[in-house]
Amino acid sequence: MYLGIDLGTSAVKTIIVDDAQRVVASSSHALTMDVPRPGWAEQDPAAWIAAVFATLDALKADHPGALAAVDAIGLSGQMHGPVLLDAAMKPLRPCILWNDGRSERECLALEQRWPALRMITGNKAMPGFAAPKLMWIAAHEPEIFAATRLVLLPKAYVRLVLTGDVIEDMSDASGSLWLDVVGRDWSDEGLAATGLTRAQMPRLVEGCAPAGRLRSDLAERWGMTKRPAFAGGAGDNPAGAVGIGAVRPGATFITLGTSGAVITPVDAVTANPERVVHTFCHAVPAMWLQAGAMLSAASCLAWVARLLGASETELLAPLGARPAAPSPVSFLPYLAGERTPHDDPHARGLLDGLSHATDRSVIVQAVLEGVAFALADCRDALRETGLVIAEADAIGGGSRSDLWLAILADVLGIPVHRLAEGETGAAFGAARLARLAVTGEDIGAVCTPPARMRTFAPDVALSAAYAERRPRWQQLYRRPS
Ligand code: XUL
Repeated sequence: MYLGIDLGTSAVKTIIVDDAQRVVASSSHALTMDVPRPGWAEQDPAAWIAAVFATLDALKADHPGALAAVDAIGLSGQMHGPVLLDAAMKPLRPCILWNDGRSERECLALEQRWPALRMITGNKAMPGFAAPKLMWIAAHEPEIFAATRLVLLPKAYVRLVLTGDVIEDMSDASGSLWLDVVGRDWSDEGLAATGLTRAQMPRLVEGCAPAGRLRSDLAERWGMTKRPAFAGGAGDNPAGAVGIGAVRPGATFITLGTSGAVITPVDAVTANPERVVHTFCHAVPAMWLQAGAMLSAASCLAWVARLLGASETELLAPLGARPAAPSPVSFLPYLAGERTPHDDPHARGLLDGLSHATDRSVIVQAVLEGVAFALADCRDALRETGLVIAEADAIGGGSRSDLWLAILADVLGIPVHRLAEGETGAAFGAARLARLAVTGEDIGAVCTPPARMRTFAPDVALSAAYAERRPRWQQLYRRPS
């Protein structure tokens, strides 16, 4: 048995997977996000730990046999947020999250201080990444920066608490802007540019390599008699990729979670930081991921559901399986700023074209379409690097909606596949990495793609209608001057 723990932004999800790769038990615990100011986002690392413990306590209560049989644990998690620890290994402040836009000024300063940044990291300096957040802390909270002995990303902090080891995997480390992504090692130059040294960083391993062992007191608490080993694990998107077998070049997938992305695995980096393509090490050796990343995807539907006081199911039901035509209303999904292709933390959402005839369904359709248009922008940014995207698998909560996948297929003009339920997600990928770390099996043999349950082929007429609409939608975004 293998355990996968995914530290998301809205929940911790922990699953147990058996040797035949079936999910035999799962437990999740919700998390909230603090917004101290508009455009900022923080979480208390103590809340993550409480949530991880709650899921394991629940599994112990409901599935003690499966938990006792766990051989290895894999971690996956939200990327980019630095956890600053003091000499006693205690967090010095809440974690500034991946979707926090406060460090825009620091990004400019960092690129000036370290001109090789884009070449070494494969990325553009963006407020989402860890390094500019550290610079913001150094400028605004110098006493905290001075007390910082160790900088960990979210799941590495969970590992520290569960194992006592200070280890990070390559994929998550790529989201820091301190990693030489091709060399798969910390960049001393990059660390120095933010006033840090290698001594403040965790040891690096590949995602499928061993990385610590569960503390004996915790193994006892959860009845995990084998005292499981840990795998390096992965950032949520790389773990999601492992979960759906996207470990071969060209196996493009789209995530419709809190955030969204179009992601293609590659065996040679073809970065495009100018168009805000993200370059991350994959969770398996000698592979990378090129991604167009958006900050608000399924969270836009959650937002509109909150606004209209209805559940997402209630909102989607009257819309049917495919729209007759594009919504007369247009929606920009930049509720938390945007990364690809704008890199603009100040970008905001917009509903355009409202009239007396606008009803709830018109707005909901516009929201789904706005996210799809933004994903088309991500796809185009990837295409500029020479990547050909002829089809894509869809994962994440939003992929449960037939309507959304049909719209996505129409807007992108490519077939979009829905994968088999229950075998997707970052926690499942993390459990696969756990298995690889202790069995040393062939990566391709373990990381097989799940069955495609349904293919949403583009509708020719609707594709043409969306292609006509898209330039108008793109013009709605104006970079604030
Ligand atoms: C990727 C990214 C998100 C977060 C949270 O660059 O910011 O995927 O990891 O989901």
